[in-house]
Amino acid sequence: MIETIEIQKVYPSGTEEIHVLRGINLKIEAGEIIAVVGASGVGKSTLLNLLGTIDRPTNGKILYDDKDVFELSNNELASFRNREIGFIFQFHHLLPEFSAVENVMMPLLIGNKDRKEAYDSALSLLKNVGLEGREEHKPGKLSGGEQQRVAVARALANNPKVILADEPTGNLDRKTSEEVHDLLWELNQKLNQTFIIATHNQNLAQRSDRIIKLADGYMTEVTVDYKNDISQQQQ
Ligand SMILES: Nc1ncnc2c1ncn2[C@@H]1O[C@H](COP(=O)(O)OP(=O)(O)OP(=O)(O)O)[C@@H](O)[C@H]1O
Ligand SMILES: [Mg+2]
Repeated sequence: MIETIEIQKVYPSGTEEIHVLRGINLKIEAGEIIAVVGASGVGKSTLLNLLGTIDRPTNGKILYDDKDVFELSNNELASFRNREIGFIFQFHHLLPEFSAVENVMMPLLIGNKDRKEAYDSALSLLKNVGLEGREEHKPGKLSGGEQQRVAVARALANNPKVILADEPTGNLDRKTSEEVHDLLWELNQKLNQTFIIATHNQNLAQRSDRIIKLADGYMTEVTVDYKNDISQQQQ
């Protein structure tokens, strides 16, 4: 469903250039949960931003259902992104002045959905992530885990095919992180959405279908044996 062909990303840095990605070739099938791992600064967020079409590769292509998304006009791309891709960030980026339900409605309203319809869908999404009864709370009145659940509901609002999550539980304690991970897996089972998750969290990586490891601008796919090795080392 998603294919990257030799994607490269170069950032200018003063008089030099940083070659963050030097040629990433990745195929992702619908319904997969993929963990992207690697040391800090290796390019995980960069890769997610490219997959999410919020940034363009310096070279290479990204195909969604065999179509090169960067051939779309800016307007078409923005609407594609709003429709097909959901984002979850490390810090939820909820709008503090708006209630939980209003935050979840936002992508629906941007997609021109009728207000009443958007409200009803947002309520049902919040119920889905276990936040029934908290709909009218503003983010400041919710716990970190609850805020992250609102962010998950918001990412799901347009029923996107792909959810990109960048350290989705990076700022949560272990127990709350595990609850949010359980929620992601439950949603994946229920809705068959594709999840691509950048993470430093070993438990999360090991639960995923595949682990993509970035190093020196290239990716390697970590094998199941290696996954078992990591879990043995942890015991
Ligand atoms: N907009 C930018 N301009 C210039 N350099 C950038 C930009 N964004 C990222 N970089 C650099 O690109 C490299 C990769 O950054 P990226 O944020 O993708 O790493 P990461 O793997 O997500 O790290 P972390 O685990 O710390 O989140 C870093 O060296 C970073 O400084
Ligand atoms: Mg990052």
